[in-house]
Formats: sequence, structure tokens, C-alpha cells
Amino acid sequence: METISLRKATPKDRALVVDFDYNLSKVEHIELKRAEKITKAIKDKECFIILADNSAVGFVLFDYRFFDQGWIELIILEEKHRGKGIGGQAILLICQQSKTPKVFTSTNSSNTQMQKALQKVGFSFAGKINGLDEGDPELFYFKTTKDRKTKN
Ligand SMILES: CC(C)(COP(=O)(O)OP(=O)(O)OC[C@H]1O[C@@H](n2cnc3c(N)ncnc32)[C@H](O)[C@@H]1OP(=O)(O)O)[C@@H](O)C(=O)NCCC(=O)NCCS
Repeated sequence: METISLRKATPKDRALVVDFDYNLSKVEHIELKRAEKITKAIKDKECFIILADNSAVGFVLFDYRFFDQGWIELIILEEKHRGKGIGGQAILLICQQSKTPKVFTSTNSSNTQMQKALQKVGFSFAGKINGLDEGDPELFYFKTTKDRKTKN
């Protein structure tokens, strides 16, 4: 089993991260201006490279914009590294470094792989929002990552 770790992305990682995103969906990459979003996330130190045995296999965007809670904005693994539990491990690592005792995220109803990955690492369903993507509701999940008493 590979050792999974995270490191904060630097401006030198921009092309790599943009590539991971572009390869997932060229259309979304362009329409949602994701290159700009990634550049800003790297600048704001909100982008983390996922490493498997020290080689980059994907990235996570993590911030506190969702009601001041830890929030996984986006996680993408290179296709050949999916389905091996790496996503779940990366999610647990990001939870460990969260400053809040709860971490939230969301995914489309059609994204069963992300839902399974979240459930496997202990995330609970938090609710459903209609109206974002037509015919594909957004499902929200959260995990309590720290005992409130040990928050500070
Ligand atoms: C979503 C993602 C981060 C999950 O990470 P991962 O390492 O692939 O997750 P896991 O290996 O824990 O797989 C989760 C489950 O999905 C299952 N799975 C694998 N391929 C699948 C597929 N094509 N459709 C549905 N489920 C699938 C796996 O079997 C696993 O379940 P199991 O362990 O019970 O067998 C990763 O797959 C990914 O980068 N996907 C593309 C980008 C994306 O959708 N990101 C989330 C946006 S919110």
C-alpha cells in the first residue's frame, strides 16, 4: 500500500494542478474558470498536492468559506489512481489539519464514487440542495474531526 501524504501547493505546482483539473472535464475547467480558481487557491495557501509515495497524484482545495467551517471545495485524483482508497486517505489528512472541529463538503448526486469515498471515511449525509446543477442535486456531507473540548 502506498503512503499517502499532503503538501501545500506552491506557484510551481500550478501547471500540474491545472492539468489534473483540465483532464477531469475540459468543459467545466473552461466554463467555471477553474484555472483562475486554482491560481487563487495556491496563492491563498488553500491548495494541497496529494502524494502517493511522494509522487503527485492529485490535489485538494480546502478553505473555511462554508459558514466558517472546514470545507473541501474540490478533490481530484488522476484517473489511474482512483478507486484505491487514496481519495479517502487524503480527505482524512485534510480533516486532521482543519482548524474547525467539523469538516463539510458536497458532491453531485450522480457522483457515487465520491459519496462512497466520503462514507468510507466516516462522513455523514447532511442534506440535499436542488437547483444548482439541473437534475443532479448537490449532496452535502460532514465529519466531526475533533472532540470539541480539544478544539484549542
Ligand atoms: C472522488 C475521488 C476523490 C474519490 O477518491 P478514490 O480514491 O477514487 O475513492 P475510493 O478508492 O475510496 O473509492 C470510493 C468507492 O467508489 C467505488 N468506485 C470506484 N470506481 C467507481 C465508479 N466509476 N463509480 C462508482 N463508484 C466507483 C470504489 O469501489 C470505492 O468503493 P469500495 O471501496 O466500496 O469498493 C476520486 O475518485 C476522484 O478524483 N474522482 C474524480 C473527481 C471527482 O469526482 N471529485 C469529487 C468532486 S466533488
